[in-house]
Amino acid sequence: MDYIITTEQLTKKYKNFTSVNNVSLHIRKGSIYGFLGPNGAGKSTTMKMLLGLTAPTKGNFTIDNKQFPGDRITILKEIGSFIEAPSFYANLTGRENLDIIRRILDLSKTDVEDALDLVGLTEFGDRLAKKYSLGMKQRLGLAGALLGRPPILILDEPTNGLDPSGIHEIRNLVKSLPSLYNCTVLISSHMLSEIELIADDIGILNHGRLLFEGSMNDLRQYALQSGFAADNLEDVFLSIVEKDNTERKRRARL
Ligand SMILES: Nc1ncnc2c1ncn2[C@@H]1O[C@H](COP(=O)(O)OP(=O)(O)OP(=O)(O)O)[C@@H](O)[C@H]1O
Ligand SMILES: [Mg+2]
Repeated sequence: MDYIITTEQLTKKYKNFTSVNNVSLHIRKGSIYGFLGPNGAGKSTTMKMLLGLTAPTKGNFTIDNKQFPGDRITILKEIGSFIEAPSFYANLTGRENLDIIRRILDLSKTDVEDALDLVGLTEFGDRLAKKYSLGMKQRLGLAGALLGRPPILILDEPTNGLDPSGIHEIRNLVKSLPSLYNCTVLISSHMLSEIELIADDIGILNHGRLLFEGSMNDLRQYALQSGFAADNLEDVFLSIVEKDNTERKRRARL
């Protein structure tokens, strides 16, 4: 299997609290990988480790055959990211904001136009960022992630705060990326019906542990074998997490 991201027993501890616990991910090149988990499960922390924003306590990872931490800088050049709510210079236009990132990344001017076009912001490029609606800000954040069309995108809840049509647009954009330029997307979201429509593979985290990893089809099989409702992703997700929580409570009582 051609994996572009693999993690091996990735672990993050804060004092005596384990936020990410021995997580081994396998993300296929050109796939959309839905990273799911309840609040506090460790999704953002895992993504931050992949981006070198926080150091793992244990474990390691490989991105496009490059090993962390040795190849950290090369790894970063290959990833576009959107982590939680991105911030911008409010008194600069959308285009100017992107141009700042473009210069840091040493890309060409046409990359800014390409990114604006990809997210449908071309006609609003000259509006000040502070005058953008929430949805436009999210799209500007995505445009920043897409600058230079990086082979890997890490998107942490990119549809947070969007209205239904904004969500629909972002979904279509994300879905188009693998065929558009063979991009691999790691995306976290609580909107399971959205993830169901775009993800090839799913990873489910709970309390820092990876409870399930596999294709949508594998997940359906797994649900049926476990006697869970397998009608939609949300039902399966809730059943898997609830079972794990029940077992945790039982173990805690022993
Ligand atoms: N800097 C920190 N210091 C201490 N604990 C932290 C720190 N960062 C994260 N945590 C804890 O690690 C756990 C995982 O947090 P994380 O943000 O990765 O969860 P998440 O899956 O992204 O949740 P959400 O869906 O709410 O975004 C939480 O319990 C959080 O409080
Ligand atoms: Mg998070």
